[in-house]
Amino acid sequence: MHAFSTIPCLPEAASTPVGAEVYRGLTALPKNLSPWLFYDERGSELFEAITELPEYYLTRTEREIFAQYADEILAAAGDDRLTMIELGAGTAAKTGLLLAAAVRRQERVSYYPIDISVSALREASSRIGEELPQVAVRPIVADYTTELDEIPAPACRRLVLYIGSSIGNFEPGDAAAVLRKLRGQLAPGDLLLLGVDHIKDRATLLRAYNDGAGVTAEFNRNVLTRIQRELGADFRPRLFRHRVRWNDRESRIEMHLESLVSQEVAIPALELTVGFRRGETIHTENSYKFTPETAAALLSRSGFAVRREWTDGRRWFGVYLAEAA
Ligand code: AVI
Repeated sequence: MHAFSTIPCLPEAASTPVGAEVYRGLTALPKNLSPWLFYDERGSELFEAITELPEYYLTRTEREIFAQYADEILAAAGDDRLTMIELGAGTAAKTGLLLAAAVRRQERVSYYPIDISVSALREASSRIGEELPQVAVRPIVADYTTELDEIPAPACRRLVLYIGSSIGNFEPGDAAAVLRKLRGQLAPGDLLLLGVDHIKDRATLLRAYNDGAGVTAEFNRNVLTRIQRELGADFRPRLFRHRVRWNDRESRIEMHLESLVSQEVAIPALELTVGFRRGETIHTENSYKFTPETAAALLSRSGFAVRREWTDGRRWFGVYLAEAA
């Protein structure tokens, strides 16, 4: 007689990207969810709102650096024609300053913004089309980190923009892997402009992720609303509190959602019930902060050599121009 072993069989929804991530993260200990889950339509709107908050200095400070140094950055990139490619471009709000500087040097510029959001790319294309007609915008809809195996390879040298501190949301090993993959797609002499947030006083860091108007709290809790909508979960987001901590050892801001009561949450699409103790948290995001030395070390172990760096008057944010070594 043949003996059949029981093969654990997961519901179909557990094999979609969202289902698989929620299953993995909420059955893990400690519970955690990957930050890419934040960015459904509402989450992307909330993130745009965060970038305008008085406490969230990151976007404003990087824009100040570009406003002051865009011409210098483009001059440091070299004299020949450049094509610009932006990873995770979103609406490319700050990129206009760099594109305008490129237009001042070379009249016509090709710009490839890469992003998963079609609506963000549409907004980027129409704004740049109006403000800078000398820029040929060629949007690419893709998740750079998982989907794109080749980046555009025009005849001229490439300047890849990875700005906005996006690299800070990866674990250190993953950040190096993303940059190493990029390095593998570039030729010697191509350039990367990386924007990272610097370590600063704790209070400023904590305030940036726990604003007075509660927008970041809503952004954090929106991940639960997304799981409700997409997987039928009966989460009650108000029973979870937005928590932020500075982890000094790891140089990172952590965001968590803390269960205010002991509760069970059913997720029908995953045939899963998740129990929470009062005070238990779901770790939803890390945002790593750098010093000029740790930023240069990340670049160098990923195959890039820093050519120049720019910062603001308070040294709160850093923009690093690095060459594919
Ligand atoms: C997208 N990323 C760079 C933001 C950050 O600062 O880590 C995401 C964010 N999380 C809360 N506020 C902003």
